[in-house]
Amino acid sequence: MTWHAAPLAGRTEFLRSSAIRDLLGLAGRSDIVSLAGGLPATETFPVEAVREACARVLATRPHDALQYGPSEGIAPLREWVAAHLGARGMHFDPDQVLITSGSQQGLDLIGKVLIDAGSAVLVERPSYLGALQAFGLYAPRFVGIDADAEGPLPLAFAAALPGARLAYLQPHFSNPGGCSLSDTRAAHLAPLLAAAPTWLVEDDPYAEIWFETPPQPGLIARGVAQGVHLGSFSKVLAPGLRLGWIAAPRELAPKLAQARQAADLQSSSFAQWLVLELLRGGAVERGLPALRQLYRGRRDALLAALQAHMPAGVRWSRPGGGLFVWVTLPHGLDAAALLPQALGRGVAYVPGVSFDVRGEARNTLRLSYSSVDEARIDAAIATLGALFEHALRAAPEARAA
Ligand SMILES: Cc1ncc(COP(=O)(O)O)c(C=O)c1O
Repeated sequence: MTWHAAPLAGRTEFLRSSAIRDLLGLAGRSDIVSLAGGLPATETFPVEAVREACARVLATRPHDALQYGPSEGIAPLREWVAAHLGARGMHFDPDQVLITSGSQQGLDLIGKVLIDAGSAVLVERPSYLGALQAFGLYAPRFVGIDADAEGPLPLAFAAALPGARLAYLQPHFSNPGGCSLSDTRAAHLAPLLAAAPTWLVEDDPYAEIWFETPPQPGLIARGVAQGVHLGSFSKVLAPGLRLGWIAAPRELAPKLAQARQAADLQSSSFAQWLVLELLRGGAVERGLPALRQLYRGRRDALLAALQAHMPAGVRWSRPGGGLFVWVTLPHGLDAAALLPQALGRGVAYVPGVSFDVRGEARNTLRLSYSSVDEARIDAAIATLGALFEHALRAAPEARAA
């Protein structure tokens, strides 16, 4: 019998595999050093503590852990999140907190509840690809705001803000930019937002991964009332547990919870009780110094290797935390076009154009030091340096970035 393909929903038009993603499929090969991924280092997972906490959960709360639970998340974990945010100057009651299956689910729920087709959504250039994908399904009109090492440029932000439905920002150690909102920049942006009927979404999974000093307060902590905060246990504990949260203003929190019910009812009860047990036993807090030290060493190795091996005219961010460095090549070089050659030489990165809503930043790329040890970082950057040097010689018209 022949089968006549039935139509898909129109929005599947926004679900595309990209040539870059297909190429990066190769990055998992054992002969390739991947600076592309950004996966947390497995050495940071508190395996023994998780094993013990699983046993305790099963001994003390087997039925709660294996039963359905509230869509909003278990009460003591919501209380922990509210207290944690309060200590960082963000004041939400536990009933404004929704436990989610990672902050990625939070982004999708925000898209569902806040974005109509054609809504203006402000995002930095560059911005987190997962947010562009999640919001993209709801057919917004993305407005890319130029950003520098201190955050979005205030004039561009102010010009784009009127009529915008939401602004999506990462206040600390951003993916992919490796940047944080500076004090001065935050002081410029907060009053603009306070005067606008626009939601602010602060996606903040890297705040605890600081290397020298804890981060400055973001915009919600500076009193922006329409702020929605997204957090995650993925980077400080383990992403496989798939737990994060949204903390939202009272007008929004119930809508997010209802949208969430329709999506997957709830996050895993077992994972929630487990994470609570790990938080209460101090395993997450105890792991943070070693986690910061490991990533700081790798960040230092990557910055030193860039300094040693990159040709003149290449610039890069110097993150004070998080997992990413953003590299800008001289204009005229195309990081996406060079990726097959980099893979051929055994090194993977993500071309920056993937993170740019305007699709223009062709001379940029994202490197992650998170899951590569220091010796391999140096060798990989030496390879990339030689490749870019060669490409520059072949393109004498390339201009310094
Ligand atoms: C900026 C940002 N937001 C959200 C996420 C999603 O994280 P998760 O769903 O694991 O909490 C990531 C993951 O890389 C990220 O970098």
